[in-house]
Amino acid sequence: MTQIDVRSIEMLRQTGGQQTRILAGVDLSVSPGEFVALEGPSGAGKTSLLSCLAGLDRPTRGVVALDGVDLRTLSPRRLADLRSHSVGLIQQHDNVFSSLSVAENVELPARIRRGRLTRSEIGAALDAVGLRDRAKARPAELSGGERQRVAVARCIANRARLILADEPTESLDRANARQVIALLRDQAARGCTVVMVTHDGEAAAAASRRVRLEQGQIVSDLR
Ligand SMILES: Nc1ncnc2c1ncn2[C@@H]1O[C@H](COP(=O)(O)OP(=O)(O)O)[C@@H](O)[C@H]1O
Ligand SMILES: [Mg+2]
Repeated sequence: MTQIDVRSIEMLRQTGGQQTRILAGVDLSVSPGEFVALEGPSGAGKTSLLSCLAGLDRPTRGVVALDGVDLRTLSPRRLADLRSHSVGLIQQHDNVFSSLSVAENVELPARIRRGRLTRSEIGAALDAVGLRDRAKARPAELSGGERQRVAVARCIANRARLILADEPTESLDRANARQVIALLRDQAARGCTVVMVTHDGEAAAAASRRVRLEQGQIVSDLR
């Protein structure tokens, strides 16, 4: 449901006395409900771009706007609010806290905002990812694929309007990867905007749009 507008962003980093352009003029608009696969070689700047979209990092130049709001105009507090209310982040692995149960992991963003979810909200989200009967389990009792599905359930329960996933299927076998991709696709079909970094051709093919980044620049954008 989130409209993303990235305008001419550049990101410069100082590494070992040398300045490198990690993002070198990126323009990208993503409409609500689009499912974008962000592809490109290692070091291309994919994770950096995702961090800018999440407001976790700031470009050196240029604008990132979510639903027309320029992220530069938001205080750190408001940015954190925006993330906890409407953005779901999914990393390659380690998305769940091992000391919390599955249900507690799903509820975590609500807890961070000092809210609660009802049992039925948590149950419905776990149901959507096929893990209803694992609510009380600890992450250590789950497979890698199940843990990634908990991360998706967290986005669902939290009603994320934007899901930013960084190589979410990288550490999964084919069958589990397919399940996770199908769930992300489902979220996009329900109107959630999804941007997923991936090296997996099959995962990228499931997206409605494929954007390729090389050396900090978009080199192709196919719908
Ligand atoms: N915090 C940082 N400081 C310096 N250089 C960084 C930092 N983060 C990433 N880089 C460099 O920026 C480039 C792009 O990194 P990244 O966005 O992680 O690429 P990708 O996700 O496409 O592999 C790489 O050359 C990486 O070494
Ligand atoms: Mg990366």
